[in-house]
Amino acid sequence: MAEVIDGKSVAEDVVSKVKALTAELSAKGATKPGLAVVIVGEDPASQVYVASKSRTAKECGFHSLQHTLPADTTEEQLLKIISDLNADKSIHGILVQLPLPGHIDAGKVIQTIAPEKDVDGFHFINVGKLGTGELDTAFVPCTPAGSMLLIERVRGKDLSGLNAVVVGRSNIVGKPMANLLLAANCTVTIAHSRTKDLPALARTADILVAAVGRPEMVKGDWVKPGATVIDVGINRIPAPEKGEGKSRLVGDVAYAEAAKLAGAITPVPGGVGPMTIAMLMANTVASAYLAAGLKRPSF
Ligand code: GUN
Repeated sequence: MAEVIDGKSVAEDVVSKVKALTAELSAKGATKPGLAVVIVGEDPASQVYVASKSRTAKECGFHSLQHTLPADTTEEQLLKIISDLNADKSIHGILVQLPLPGHIDAGKVIQTIAPEKDVDGFHFINVGKLGTGELDTAFVPCTPAGSMLLIERVRGKDLSGLNAVVVGRSNIVGKPMANLLLAANCTVTIAHSRTKDLPALARTADILVAAVGRPEMVKGDWVKPGATVIDVGINRIPAPEKGEGKSRLVGDVAYAEAAKLAGAITPVPGGVGPMTIAMLMANTVASAYLAAGLKRPSF
């Protein structure tokens, strides 16, 4: 049976390190890390995520700011808030929760965030740095950055020559994940809905990352024996066996089947999920170190 990769425990390690780094920064007399989270509208899932981000920021000893804006906020109003945060020296990280309401151009909003405060890693400057291997100064999107830490816990930092297959080509997860694996010298293939014979391709993977948002799509017999399987999916499905109207969370991987073959696998929940917020804190403390002219801490 596979080693179960405990994302909760790794995320706790990251948060502990962020707390220590924040204390060191204060001891040096520098400004403490400041994170501003902006949410527009009342999407309940987004509200839960944002509350959790703000809570963890406070726990880390950050200056934590939250802008909760009504759904009818105009693009102009939102852009003004971002410009003000860009100019605010007490803020080192700006996160605008996605999705935004349809009348706001999310691309324009993201590109307005100062690249050095873009702790989501969505600005073209950060995307370009990751794509060209400038990892020392890039902000890398939190979910793939967290997935990479989990892979390194299992495989070590040197992934040279390993075959990696990333299923999913989103800008938030699939593409940055592929770039991180490439920077670590893996041979990388990005698969997507048009890929031919996906099961056969998946079976070539020493590292298999599933980020498609389709419940239990990756079957057990897609997994190469001994592979490291990273499941980025979080899907809520009906669970009538738990009672009427009940539901449960599953990933993009059919976990029980895949765990029989994998060398190591992330569970859902408790795998990649907890890493996302931890890496947001890591990016924010890194931004504060850079703003203070100090060496960027690594995780
Ligand atoms: N919505 C879902 N995931 C994310 C994320 O990583 N960052 C932002 N800003 N919004 C999201």
